[in-house]
Amino acid sequence: MKILKSFLVVLISFLVACNSASENKTEVVSPDENIQINFELNEKGEPTYKITHKNNQVIKTSKLGFDLENTAALSGDFQLIKATSSSFNETWKMSWGEQIDVVNNYNELKVELQETSALKRKLNIVFRVFNDGVGFRYEFPEQDNLKEVLITEENTEFNLTGDHKVWWIPGDWDIYEHLYNTTKFSEIDALKLSGHENLAQTSIPNNAVNTPVTMKTENGLHLSFHEASLVDYSGMTLEVELTTFKMKSTLVGSKNHSYKVKQNVPFNTPWRTIQIAEEAKDLIASKLILNLNEPNKLGDVSWFKPTKYTGIWWEMHLGKSSWDYGMEEIDGEWKDTGKAHGKHGATTENAKRFIDFSAKNNIRGVLVEGWNTGWEHWIGFEDREGVFDFVTPYPDYNLQEVVRYGKEKGVDIIMHHETSAATQTYEKQQDTAYALMQSLGIHAVKTGYVGKIIPKGEFHHGQYMVNQYNNAVIKAAKYQVAINAHEPIKATGLRRTYPNTISREGLRGQEFNAWSSDGGNPPEHLPIIAFTRMLAGPIDYTPGIFNIKFNKYKKDNQVNTTITQQLALYVVIYSPVQMAADLVEHYEGNPALQFIKDVGVDWQQTEVLNGEIGDFVTIARKERTSENWFVGGITDENARDLEIDFSFLDEEVLYKATIYEDGKNAHWNNNPTDLTIRTIEITNKSKEKFHLAAGGGFAISLIKI
Ligand code: NOJ
Ligand code: CA
Repeated sequence: MKILKSFLVVLISFLVACNSASENKTEVVSPDENIQINFELNEKGEPTYKITHKNNQVIKTSKLGFDLENTAALSGDFQLIKATSSSFNETWKMSWGEQIDVVNNYNELKVELQETSALKRKLNIVFRVFNDGVGFRYEFPEQDNLKEVLITEENTEFNLTGDHKVWWIPGDWDIYEHLYNTTKFSEIDALKLSGHENLAQTSIPNNAVNTPVTMKTENGLHLSFHEASLVDYSGMTLEVELTTFKMKSTLVGSKNHSYKVKQNVPFNTPWRTIQIAEEAKDLIASKLILNLNEPNKLGDVSWFKPTKYTGIWWEMHLGKSSWDYGMEEIDGEWKDTGKAHGKHGATTENAKRFIDFSAKNNIRGVLVEGWNTGWEHWIGFEDREGVFDFVTPYPDYNLQEVVRYGKEKGVDIIMHHETSAATQTYEKQQDTAYALMQSLGIHAVKTGYVGKIIPKGEFHHGQYMVNQYNNAVIKAAKYQVAINAHEPIKATGLRRTYPNTISREGLRGQEFNAWSSDGGNPPEHLPIIAFTRMLAGPIDYTPGIFNIKFNKYKKDNQVNTTITQQLALYVVIYSPVQMAADLVEHYEGNPALQFIKDVGVDWQQTEVLNGEIGDFVTIARKERTSENWFVGGITDENARDLEIDFSFLDEEVLYKATIYEDGKNAHWNNNPTDLTIRTIEITNKSKEKFHLAAGGGFAISLIKI
C-alpha cells in the first residue's frame, strides 16, 4: 500500500521585495542561471517578457494581456507597482507514476501592475524559472473596478527567434486525434487538415496548433510549449504568424456567447509553459508541468492500483463483435424485442473468458465496453441526451456475477461510461453511477465523449467542457473512483492535485489502426508522441497488438509497427493503466506474451536513455514493487542500431535479461512478427547493441538474480 507522504519542503530561501514605482523592468533566472526571463513595461505601459538560454535568445520581446467584453482591453497603460522575488525547492512524492521523488526547484518573480488611467485595474504576472524551462500565469487580484471578467481573447505572445522545425497538430477545438506534422514553422497549415473523415467531431477555426507543440531551433535547442493546471478556463491553442515566427494564444470559444472565458475576480489563469532542453530526451524527463500544479488534494488514493488490463474492446474495433445488442426503444425504454443480432461482445461469458486469460497472465484488470443499454443510438444521432444509462446492463451481461467472478480470480473490472458527449445526461447520473461502482468495489472507469458536444455550440476544449471533465474527476474521487477519459481535455498536470486522474486518450490512439481510412498511424507516430503529447501526461494508447495484420477481420487495415515495438510501448509510453489490447486468441501460445506478463506498470525511477524527436527513443524504468528494470526502445520507418549502456542499473546486481528483438527479416509492413528472444546476464558494467527493424523496437526485462 502506498501512503501518500506529505510534501517535504527542504528550502524556502529568500523573499525580496524590490519596490519602486519608477522602475519598469526586472528579471529572474533559473536556479542554475542558464535560463533568464526579462520583464519590461514598454513605452505604452504594455507588459512584455523575453527569455534567454545560456545568453542566447529563445523568446524575443513578447506582449502579454487580454481583450475583455464590454470594457477596455487589459493590455497597456500599466505601471509596475511591486516586484517580488522568491526561491523554492522541495521534493514531493508521486502517489503513482514514472518515479517516486520529484524535485520542484524554481525562482519566482511576481510583478504587480496597475493601470494609470481612471479604471486603475490591477493585474499580476507570476514567472517561475526552473532549470528545465519556464512557466508564467496571470493573476487577477481582488480589486474594486473588476469583479467579473468576460475574456474575449488572451493575447499571450511567444515570439520565436527563427523558422524552427516544428512537430504539430492543428489547433482543433474538438479533438486532438490528428497525426503530427513535421514542418518548418513557416509551413504550418492547420486549416488544410479540416474535416478529416474519421473524426466524429472536428473544428479548426484558424491557423493554430494545439499544445504540447515541440520544436527544434537551428542551434539544436528543443522547446515545447504547453499549459499547466487548466482549471475553469478554456484550452489554449497557439495561432501562428508564418512570416514573423510569432505564436499567440487563441482560446477555445463557444458558439453560445462571444466571450471565451467567464470568471469572477480573484482568479488565476493556467500556467503558460515552455520546456527547454539541449537534448530531446530531457524533455521527457522534465516534470515542469506537474511542478506547476497544486499538491495532492485527495490524500491517500491507494484504493487505485496501477494495473495492466485486457478488455472487450479491440474486437468491436475490428468488427468481430458489437457494442450494441439489438434492443429497441419503446416509449423511452429499452426493450429486448427478440431482435438481438447475436454479435454483442459484452456477454457474461466473454467477460469471464477475459478474466480467465488475465488471471493466468498477471494482468489485474478487464475493461468491458458495450455492457449498458443505449448503444443502438449513439454515434451519428443528434438527439443523444437521455439515451445512455450507466447502471442498466444488457440482458446477456450479468454485471454482479462478472465482478464476483473477477474478484475470485484477483481481477478487477474496469467500468465504461461512453457519454456520447451528452453532458447533461452524464452529469445527472454521475452520483448513481459512481455509487454503483463503489458498491461493487470497482475503482476505475474509462469515460468517453464521442460526438459533437451537447449542448450544441460548445466544444470539447472550451471552458464549459474543461469544467465537465474536472468536475467528473472531483466527484468520482468521493466514490473512490479513478478516471481514464477518452476524447478528453488535454492533460495539464492535474494528476498531481487529483491523483484519481489516471490516464487519458487525447491523441490518435491504436484504434485508428483498426479502422481509419488513411492507413492508420505511421511508424513515426509514436517516436513523435513521446516528445509531444506525452509531455502533457499519461496516455491510454492501448498497445500490445500481436496479430499485426488481422486480415481475418480487415484486409485494408493493420498496425504499422513490428510486434517487438508493440512490446516496447509498455515501457516507452507511460500510463498507470496499460492495456494488453489484442484478442485473447491472438495472445495464446505466443512466447512474446511473457514480456507483457512480466512488465511493471508503476515505477520508482525512469531513465530516458536516448532519443531524437520523430526518429527513435529508448526509456528504462524500475518497478516500484520490485528491484526489476524494464527497457523499451522504438524507431520510426528507418531501421537502426542502438548501443545501450546499462550503467543506470543498480550497482553490484546481476540481472537476468530477457531480450525481445526484431528478427533479421523483420519490417513493419513486410514481416512484422519476426521476433527473436534471447536471455543473457547483465550488470551495470554491460553495454549491448540492439538492431531495430524499420518500424521496430526492442524490449528487455531485467530481473534481479
Ligand atoms: C472512442 C474511444 O477512444 C474508444 O476507445 C472506445 O472504444 C469508443 N469511443 C467507444 O466508447
Ligand atoms: Ca477516441
